[in-house]
Amino acid sequence: MSKTAARSAIRGRFLDIENTVAQACEIHDQARYVEDGLLICLNGKIEWFGTWQDGQAHLPPDVQVQHYPDQLIIPGFIDTHIHYPQTEMIGAYGEQLLEWLDTYTFPTELQFSDPAYAEKIAEFFVQELLKNGTTTALVFCTVHPQSVDALFQAAQKRQMRLIAGKVMMDRHAPENLCDTAESAYADSKQLIEKWHGKGRNLYAVTPRFAPTSTPEQLARAGQLKAEYPDVYVHTHLSENKNEIAWAKALFPEQKGYLDVYHHYGLTGSRSVFAHCVHLEDDEWQCMHDTDSAIAFCPTSNLFLGSGLFPLKKTWEAQVKVGLGTDIGAGTSFSQLQTIQEAYKVQQLQGDKLSAFEALYHTTLGGAKALDLADQLGNFNIGKEADFIVLDLQPTALQALRQSRAKGIEDAVFALMMMGDDRNVQAAYVYGECAYQRSKA
Ligand code: GUN
Ligand code: ZN
Repeated sequence: MSKTAARSAIRGRFLDIENTVAQACEIHDQARYVEDGLLICLNGKIEWFGTWQDGQAHLPPDVQVQHYPDQLIIPGFIDTHIHYPQTEMIGAYGEQLLEWLDTYTFPTELQFSDPAYAEKIAEFFVQELLKNGTTTALVFCTVHPQSVDALFQAAQKRQMRLIAGKVMMDRHAPENLCDTAESAYADSKQLIEKWHGKGRNLYAVTPRFAPTSTPEQLARAGQLKAEYPDVYVHTHLSENKNEIAWAKALFPEQKGYLDVYHHYGLTGSRSVFAHCVHLEDDEWQCMHDTDSAIAFCPTSNLFLGSGLFPLKKTWEAQVKVGLGTDIGAGTSFSQLQTIQEAYKVQQLQGDKLSAFEALYHTTLGGAKALDLADQLGNFNIGKEADFIVLDLQPTALQALRQSRAKGIEDAVFALMMMGDDRNVQAAYVYGECAYQRSKA
């Protein structure tokens, strides 16, 4: 953290969602567009936000204003499910989930026993997040504790708020990629003590998914959560039909797949379940009752042929949901590209995903899913100053489309349908510019 008081000021066009909402239809009332605005940051937090006209009175004379007259400034994107060790294996051909894990994923993750390798990929990964405008993510590491050290070190260097954890996995995987119930407990505990709440880092207890943990290991995961109630739980749930049948067969005593996690004390307001494509009615109810969250991962669900996630159901059942890229089953680090696919997934189900709803899911809604809405997700005064500067016209085609945009919502929708990392001009983390796109 900076030792001296650090104040910065940004002027430009700002858009965010001011408050969390209970229904998609309420989002429009909460969209806040300030055409000529000012954001003042002090020591990583938002000190003041409003119009440029009102803001000048709040601006100390020695503070230089960074002006972005043509760009759009929004809160940093939040990725609620991603695997950093899978960065290098995006786009692995031809398999669905269980075969994909055996064929591509496990061999790739074996490399992370080497701390130097982990460090190299962690650096690349964090840089790639920022390049895509993602300032916070909930991240899977591998079974190796050193993979967690490498990621948290890379995040700490940039003062990024990341949540991550060591994979717990003691069966149905290659032997040298497995821990044991005991070692997973001991290693995770040590990592929690070392990293949780250090700087902006937060820890997630991370059993890979029920089929790769014994009942003893899930019990140990539940014990960790009971001993450290403010750590996260991060795992996979109901992604693929064969996976679901396997989980049910392995845990016949439980009512269903989610009930396995629930039984071991792994549901709750800091529990995030990736995918949830095929939840049953009682599972939707359990997600709601326990205040657990879903990471919706459209590019991954399409790439692995897992299915179409019913986003509308999250509003009906009142279940928290964020967007996840799920690299490397997902095919892009970009939340803009993730939204493109989310939109198409809703179209295939006869539903609409509006630009402001999508913005909500990738900012304030994502923060809510991560139980961080008090700190992240919009420009409310007192929150942490993570935001991105978007160029709406990085290509000739986008410039043409934007010149025809009918108002801010249409402009943002076009950005979402056509955009990618080329739209991210700068990413600010904790009030400081952490990434600047080099000019083409
Ligand atoms: N289920 C268990 N492990 C994984 C993984 O690495 N990726 C995805 N998409 N699903 C999983
Ligand atoms: Zn995943």
